[in-house]
Amino acid sequence: IILAIALIMAGCSGSSAGSGGGELLKVGTDAAYPPFETQGGDGEITGFDIDIIKAIAKAEGMKVSVKHTGWDPLFEAVKRGKVDAGISAMTITEKRKETFDFSEPYFEAKQLILLPADSDVKSLKDLKGKEIGVQSGTTGEVVVQEAFGKTYKGIRGYDDTPAAIDDLASGRVDAVVADNGVVQDYMKQKLPEGKFKTVEDASFEKEYYGIIVKKGNKDLLEKINSGLKKIQEDGTYDKIYQKYFGE
Ligand code: ARG
Repeated sequence: IILAIALIMAGCSGSSAGSGGGELLKVGTDAAYPPFETQGGDGEITGFDIDIIKAIAKAEGMKVSVKHTGWDPLFEAVKRGKVDAGISAMTITEKRKETFDFSEPYFEAKQLILLPADSDVKSLKDLKGKEIGVQSGTTGEVVVQEAFGKTYKGIRGYDDTPAAIDDLASGRVDAVVADNGVVQDYMKQKLPEGKFKTVEDASFEKEYYGIIVKKGNKDLLEKINSGLKKIQEDGTYDKIYQKYFGE
């Protein structure tokens, strides 16, 4: 009986960590981008991306460890092999493709402007002359730079998106430009009701999130793509999508 209990417990602890046997996949993320990735008070990192990468790893017989690196350091961590892969609501861009290999796209997104409800801003160009909060090194920063120039004085770059949104909430910036998923999550979960609104500019293009690996790491990239395909085909992806984005 004791042996049976020990076996059951071993099985449980394995699956509750979201891992089977097999090779360990070390993943980095900027765990400050709900609902894609967040870190709880207990240090545990959860979110859509985390469920996705765990499901991919499981489908490929790998174990996963997820660590919070922050945004800028994530790129460096993948480049130096401190982590094997990065999943962080990261848009596939030509520029990033010069330095990293991306998985197949797994999520569609767009930029969104977050504003106080009484703001007169109706489009991106109306932000001219205003203070705009963005997370440094993101596509949100890129769209603002493209609209007003890289040296535009009103760009306020933050290390993470929550810091930008905090400054909007306290009136230190006039707007924040970030991905629609995170902006909508803040509107729903954290910001006071009725006090903020969103504006989508006609110039905002569709973006697609991908998982990065070190350039040339074909083996891992193939596993990630194969796992992604499996979870899309067997309904696991849809289940995870519903958990975070279903009504
Ligand atoms: N999708 C945007 C980009 O790739 C923002 C991603 C920010 N992600 C994060 N976990 N902070 O630039």
